[in-house]
Amino acid sequence: MLEQIDELLVKVKGFNTTNTAEIEKFRIEYSGKKGLLNALFDKFKDVPNDQKKAFGQKINALKQAVAEKLEDLKSNTREIEPLELVDWTRPGIPMDLGTRHPINLVKMRIIEIFKSIGFAVSDGPEIEDDWHNFSALNLPEYHPARDMQDTFFIEQDPDILLRTHTSSVQIRYMENNEPPIRILSPGRVFRNEAISSRSHCIFHQIEGLYIDKKVSFADLKQTLQYFTTELFGKSKIRLRPSYFPFTEPSAEVDVYWGLNSETDYRITKGTGWLEIMGCGMVDPAVLTNVNIDPEVYSGFAFGMGIERIVMLLHQMGDIRMFFENDKRMLEQFKSL
Ligand code: PHE
Repeated sequence: MLEQIDELLVKVKGFNTTNTAEIEKFRIEYSGKKGLLNALFDKFKDVPNDQKKAFGQKINALKQAVAEKLEDLKSNTREIEPLELVDWTRPGIPMDLGTRHPINLVKMRIIEIFKSIGFAVSDGPEIEDDWHNFSALNLPEYHPARDMQDTFFIEQDPDILLRTHTSSVQIRYMENNEPPIRILSPGRVFRNEAISSRSHCIFHQIEGLYIDKKVSFADLKQTLQYFTTELFGKSKIRLRPSYFPFTEPSAEVDVYWGLNSETDYRITKGTGWLEIMGCGMVDPAVLTNVNIDPEVYSGFAFGMGIERIVMLLHQMGDIRMFFENDKRMLEQFKSL
């Protein structure tokens, strides 16, 4: 019996072929379910005890030889597989180069403008809890101002939702950092709005926050004026009283666009003024919520929709164009 296994071992080691069908035949003969190896392992129990050790060693050696041989044979067939015939002289498949999305281009431009006066970018999650999106921003439960931002809820009690604005990032940042704070938070926001040419349930915002000692409304106005001059080349702005729960006082920012063309008349509805963002002095209650002493520190915040700014800069009429992925539209921004 032991001799028989030795013979098999020699046979296995000497076996050679590059024919895949023969390799498969060899595999089935030895390590198939009804193959020689299994048959030998079956016999193991009938072997007298004093021979069990020697017998066991032999079949294991055989088993290993079979495995090695199979590995060998297979790697040989791989090597001699006929080379794929490639005609290297044929022209390649043209590869389309992508372009940056207009929303990203304008976002980057806005970040650049604020970076030059010391603002850093801060990110936050798109899935938020009630505290960061509403409560800490002075929007208690049942406050009617919550209706201004129809919300997509993911879970209720405790409420988990898709952030309705990027102001949530400001709360997160203030919770974890000491003033002076100068941040910009760009990102996607979500509101449960009927989709129309003027609104969309996903859009992008960029918000700014500045907290330090003795920050005043004059600082806010100067900062915004610097911004509109850099972005639009227009320095005339006006601040109209408005309301946001997290700022006091609050204002809408209009930029004087002018009335030099028919388009100017159309987009400004004949007034020359365009609303571009909301802003205000951070409400002391918000500072208290994030453990910043409102007796020592003050600050301002502002926020704008990026789509709206792109639409103004490029005179686009429909917000849905940003999300249609129509290359003919996107490619027009190649050179920016
Ligand atoms: N978070 C406000 C909005 O989404 C915008 C805003 C930000 C207003 C900061 C004032 C200050 O409408």
